[in-house]
Amino acid sequence: MSMLRLELIVSDVEALKREAGIAACDFIENGMKLGLGTGSTVRYTVIEIGRRMNEENLSVVGVPTSESTRELAESLGIPLVSLADAGVLDLVIDGADEFDSDFSLIKGGGGALTREKIVAQSSNGMVVVADDRKQVQALGAFDLPIEVLPFEWERTAARITEICSGDVTIRGGEEPFITDNGGYILDCSFGPSITNPSDLESTLLDIAGVVEVGLFVGICDAVVMASSGGIVTLVNPTGRLS
Ligand code: 5RP
Repeated sequence: MSMLRLELIVSDVEALKREAGIAACDFIENGMKLGLGTGSTVRYTVIEIGRRMNEENLSVVGVPTSESTRELAESLGIPLVSLADAGVLDLVIDGADEFDSDFSLIKGGGGALTREKIVAQSSNGMVVVADDRKQVQALGAFDLPIEVLPFEWERTAARITEICSGDVTIRGGEEPFITDNGGYILDCSFGPSITNPSDLESTLLDIAGVVEVGLFVGICDAVVMASSGGIVTLVNPTGRLS
């Protein structure tokens, strides 16, 4: 593939992320308490929220799901509060690495899955922003991120390997990636075979040393998906926004 073609593909994907990120702002209403997700797609949502606050008098408060989102939101002048102060949030908007037809997700490509799940579980609705590469038949082609404690992480990884037939690798290798919580991330290669994400999540959470699993089941209410054909909003028929 030529460099020019590769650059075009990268810029196409970036344009889709931007479209999805901005379109999701249609779910936002004045006065809302919002969870602000993490990643390169929802980044566009946060930037658009900042723009609407500055130019259109939108008034919201946010709870960031990572230190990087905190920095971005602060730079845009979005007022931030803690979950403890906010209580239940009206909505969280976040990215995903994969979603299936049941609106189950793999998250954690950016390493923020634990805070993302805490915020999502504290919200009355969750909207995912994604481009159409993230839509899958069965979860698992994207390696499942699992946050683990650094203490004896090799033992935790060995126990996960008893469940995961593919590779279980520590993110960052010899210089491990460290999460905002001081944890490590294990990327687990299940392959596109996760047909019962709820059971798998419970099994993995039973392993001592596992902090959180990047499977989000029964949490996502809608996906704002961008493709070359435009924006499609998929609403979970059993979700809270239907
Ligand atoms: C971070 C996440 C991200 O939301 C997910 O990785 C998607 O990111 P991007 O929009 O950059 O593809 O879960 O922990």
